Amino acid sequence: MTAEINKSVAKLAESQIRQIMEMGQGMEGVIPLWFGEGDEATPEFIKQAAVRALSEDKTFYVPNNGVPELRQAIAEYMSRLYGRPVAVERITATTSGMHGIMLAYQTILDPGDTVVIIGPIWPNAVHAAEVLGASARIVALREVDGEWSIDLDELFAALDAGAKALFINSPNNPTGWMAERAELEAIFTHCRKNGIWMLCDDVYARLVYDGRSLAPSIAELAYPEDRVIIINSFSKNWNMTGWRLGWIMAPPDLLLTLAKLTEYNIAGPATFVQHAGIVALGDGEAHVARSRAAFEERRDLVYRRLGSLNRIGLIKPKGAFYAFFSVEGEHNSLALAKKILHDAAVGLAPGTAFGEVGEGYLRLCFAASPALLNEAMDRLERVLA
Ligand SMILES: Cc1ncc(COP(=O)(O)O)c(C=O)c1O
Repeated sequence: MTAEINKSVAKLAESQIRQIMEMGQGMEGVIPLWFGEGDEATPEFIKQAAVRALSEDKTFYVPNNGVPELRQAIAEYMSRLYGRPVAVERITATTSGMHGIMLAYQTILDPGDTVVIIGPIWPNAVHAAEVLGASARIVALREVDGEWSIDLDELFAALDAGAKALFINSPNNPTGWMAERAELEAIFTHCRKNGIWMLCDDVYARLVYDGRSLAPSIAELAYPEDRVIIINSFSKNWNMTGWRLGWIMAPPDLLLTLAKLTEYNIAGPATFVQHAGIVALGDGEAHVARSRAAFEERRDLVYRRLGSLNRIGLIKPKGAFYAFFSVEGEHNSLALAKKILHDAAVGLAPGTAFGEVGEGYLRLCFAASPALLNEAMDRLERVLA
């Protein structure tokens, strides 16, 4: 049977994070820190906006690129954030960041094409390219002087070996690496000179710490006609993972292509959800600031407690909400994640879920309450000390 389905699809790997989750689901008292989402539900003012939209019968089909008022609100939000005017023709509403990645790939990649991805990386970015018959070449972040670092010469060599696009996720899931502006400028200059598309996953751009409030982004550098697609999402900033709403910012001449692709995929996010998105953007700044402060406190807690264990190596994450740490003497991260689940009832994601370059590491999502994190740390101390 499987021999007759699409060949690229038949080869897709199963998610290792789900493997751990499925093992843990039947167990009692597990602290689940395997997935990437906050522990709080969507703020009330956003929920009420959806309820209002439903009672106002916002239940009909809308244009494929999105409700015009939402696209306008996104354009204004991006203009405000990056201090440059963004025309509404560059904005398409998507059914999540994941859908934004898929739309970007479908727009750019032909079967057989290569996308270079800076990794370790959230696995969906790799597999979405594979669904389309393209392949991903990973250029690894390395630990240099206590920081995650990308070797630009290595990156440029990988791009120059026939890549059509670069996918860059900064701040990065799982490492917390954040590209600095000078690095982005160098990468942008190289890609622009060589006609390489840049697909930038900025879903964690506002979850950055140490006195910062916004990660550097290609959105600050690119002109509308540059080969740049910025992918973003409502999931992380406004606790809306289950709503499935995001957007992409692309060159204006892709607007019609993106409308066609949206039409043939899902014909756009739910209408009342789009209306709630307008309110999230307009009234959500206090919530974003509060979330950032809460996540920073949790990052510091995890960094202090894990860092005090002799066998643990952890670079302080600059953004996103994950601790990606190594355990001395452990080289099989899937087996280790299973052992920790079994012995300590803490659910972590194995580093190999983020590619071969993640072997030897585990990812812990610290978007949980400090009490739960402290309990998880107590348990980890017992098995990893
Ligand atoms: C790097 C990265 N990009 C995109 C997403 C997609 O988020 P969503 O599809 O919920 O918008 C995630 C979710 O974990 C992520 O970690």
